[in-house]
Amino acid sequence: MSDVPRIVIAIDGPAASGKSSTSQWVAERLGFLHVDSGSLYRALTAALLRQGAPPERWTSSVMVAQGSRITLRAEATSFSALIDGAPAEEEIRGGIVTASVSLVARVAEVRAWVNATVREAAQTHDVVVDGRDMGTAVFPEATLKIFLIADPWERARRRLVQRLERSPTEEEIAAETDLLVQRDAKDATQTVQAKDAVVLDTTYLTQPQQVERIVALARAVSHRPPVT
Ligand code: DC
Repeated sequence: MSDVPRIVIAIDGPAASGKSSTSQWVAERLGFLHVDSGSLYRALTAALLRQGAPPERWTSSVMVAQGSRITLRAEATSFSALIDGAPAEEEIRGGIVTASVSLVARVAEVRAWVNATVREAAQTHDVVVDGRDMGTAVFPEATLKIFLIADPWERARRRLVQRLERSPTEEEIAAETDLLVQRDAKDATQTVQAKDAVVLDTTYLTQPQQVERIVALARAVSHRPPVT
């Protein structure tokens, strides 16, 4: 473990606020590694689903025991969540995992495990971490805290454009907005805005604009020369 204090940029916000893609891009610009804390909740959920028992039977001790199958591996620009030592990106982003993950994310023991795993990653690298409570529960001393928000309709529209690779209809956006609002409600307890976070409303910003603003703020507070 290094003695040099590591830089932590914590980016929180609700589902589909663009946290993960923005964080990844910011990390690449700064030469930091991106840690997606949600990927740990997702990987644990996928590991539990692989076991075959229905989610109603998952006790907190079963969940915590399965945590030993999940590791974070440092790659070129990010940490990747592995299940039994192998990447499972497509599986953890799928609808089946998404439907059960908030059940897992609500369990205090699971949260403690995710938080400890993410903190460990930040001991060896400068990081951009994204999630719901990175700037509060996990890194209250983060170098910079950003809370991303966006209008639910716009979040739903962006998500559909990404998924369908075409312009969604008004009806499709309305249905997706409904689902997003339901997810926001399920995750509400965990989604905490730090008092000292910079709130960035991305409703009318493009992704490059969001990234630019965060990179500028990060450079201002971290006093390190730009990577390129
Ligand atoms: O951001 P995401 O959709 O990948 O998150 C997956 C789930 O994990 C979602 O239910 C919210 C939860 N989560 C959380 O409670 N705390 C975090 N720091 C990150 C994600």
